Amino acid sequence: MPPRLRATLPCLTAAALFALALSPAPVAAEPRATSDTPLALTPPMGWNNWAHYMCDIDEAKVVANADALVSTGLAAKGYDTVTVDDCWMTKSRNARGDLVVDTAKFPRGVAWLGEYLHAKGLKFGIYQDAGSLTCEKYPGSGAPEGGGADHYARDARQFASWKVDYVKMDGCNLWVPEGRTKEQAYRDAYNAVAKALRDSGRDMVLSASAPAYFQQGEWGGSDWHKVLGWVGETGQLWREGKDIKVYNPAAPATSRWSSVLGNYGYNRWLGRYAGPGNWNDPDFLIAGSPGLTAAESRSQVALWSMMAAPFILSSDVSKLTPAGLAALGNTRLIALDQDPMGRQGAVVSSNATFEILVRPLANGDRAVAVLNRSANTRDIRVPLDEIGLNDCTADAQDLWSGARTEVSDALTGKLAGHDTAVWRLSPRGCSEAVPTGQIVGDGARCADGANTSGVGAVVMAGCTGAPDQRWFLGDDSRLRLAGECLSAGEDGLVELADCAPANSGQPGQSWSHRRDGTLVEEAGGLCLTAPARAATPDAPAERLRLTPCGEHRVDQAWSLPV
Ligand code: GAL
Repeated sequence: MPPRLRATLPCLTAAALFALALSPAPVAAEPRATSDTPLALTPPMGWNNWAHYMCDIDEAKVVANADALVSTGLAAKGYDTVTVDDCWMTKSRNARGDLVVDTAKFPRGVAWLGEYLHAKGLKFGIYQDAGSLTCEKYPGSGAPEGGGADHYARDARQFASWKVDYVKMDGCNLWVPEGRTKEQAYRDAYNAVAKALRDSGRDMVLSASAPAYFQQGEWGGSDWHKVLGWVGETGQLWREGKDIKVYNPAAPATSRWSSVLGNYGYNRWLGRYAGPGNWNDPDFLIAGSPGLTAAESRSQVALWSMMAAPFILSSDVSKLTPAGLAALGNTRLIALDQDPMGRQGAVVSSNATFEILVRPLANGDRAVAVLNRSANTRDIRVPLDEIGLNDCTADAQDLWSGARTEVSDALTGKLAGHDTAVWRLSPRGCSEAVPTGQIVGDGARCADGANTSGVGAVVMAGCTGAPDQRWFLGDDSRLRLAGECLSAGEDGLVELADCAPANSGQPGQSWSHRRDGTLVEEAGGLCLTAPARAATPDAPAERLRLTPCGEHRVDQAWSLPV
């Protein structure tokens, strides 16, 4: 694979960054895990009770859902980790300080449940909290409010003795000691959790909720980005934000579609953090459950698989709709989600109606998805050169139907409202794929090369999917739009200018994308910075500039096409 401008690792010097930007993309990133055994090299799959049962949970329900995973065939397709969420324990620890299972709910205890699941070929997950109390106010593992001993090691040992395979570690009620910031307190707590799990001697996947406690809107704030930067050092997956809307038995028909779109919304920009052993988790799959139509269920499965998201159902598995079950059990979609390269797909084009996502895959294929946000059936057309494939044809498999077609210019079709089309393209005779599409920054706005504020000006605008927002990421570290290169200009501004030949030595046109999201101009070491959001919609658009790189500044974080 030839060199390509791409995400690089944190903590590198400018020189190292440049070198990495020009070095070949790896086939699979180096996994980071809590022990020597790499964990969760592909996104975890399974079931959790929360979004359907919440605290109304017991042994019979867990067993029934585990059995249903097996009888529906979902377990054999990979949905293998059964996690009991909050409310499984009593409200206090025993005299020794151990957690106590609520035997009214789980009469045969936790170890029995683990054995039952393991005998079925399933894995066992459990919920706990890194603060002093869980979100439902059961005993957490963390230090009490005001300070004192934590229970991280004790609880990890207990989980290991119960042969737990997966720990969902929530972050409610976490005490912030004096002199520590909230972000530092969470970092300390999650480091301690990870150490305790490691020291327990049993490999347990760590699902960390830390980022979710720092989320502010879709683009997030500085602390959120900071937490996203470290959470993968210890966790294999992490919740970054809001819960998916839970099932309400009193109003089962209530739509949950806007919740799916909301969680998709914040997860879609974070691909730079994902890779084998590190997954962004936009929360549970509720496809096939009350509150989503068949089209909406397909969309959730398609979008989650494009984003390499964990596939964790949270529903009554025996009551999944046939369409939902078919979507969740579609082995082509599962293979997409579980692609061994582990590269999260990116939004390459979006507007009020359509979102187009692209995901590069291990065997050189490219997955493409189109979401129709509108309520009506629409014609869709995706030219190959707008998704990075130039001068070639592609064998396109519709992942829903399995049907294959030869595509020479554009993917086309009709797409029902709220539905998502998804294809796997095997390019034929193409030059190397060129990441093509929108560059998204602060406020989920797009870097736009329309000449609204002067020749060559680049401004931030609402995303439209139009050519003035279609960037091409060259294998020479250039960012091109309409044949011109993003360049350092006068007065700290950036501009579109003629591309200098690669060996001309002209500075100001080479860019590196770091894992923290910054786009660093190599010659000056400065960071591409979005202007403040306009106070009024008709205020003149301000231009993008280069400013000193700060620490996790939201106006310096960028999401790029892949
Ligand atoms: C929330 C979490 C949910 C569920 C709940 C239990 O913080 O996001 O997924 O675990 O706590 O109380």
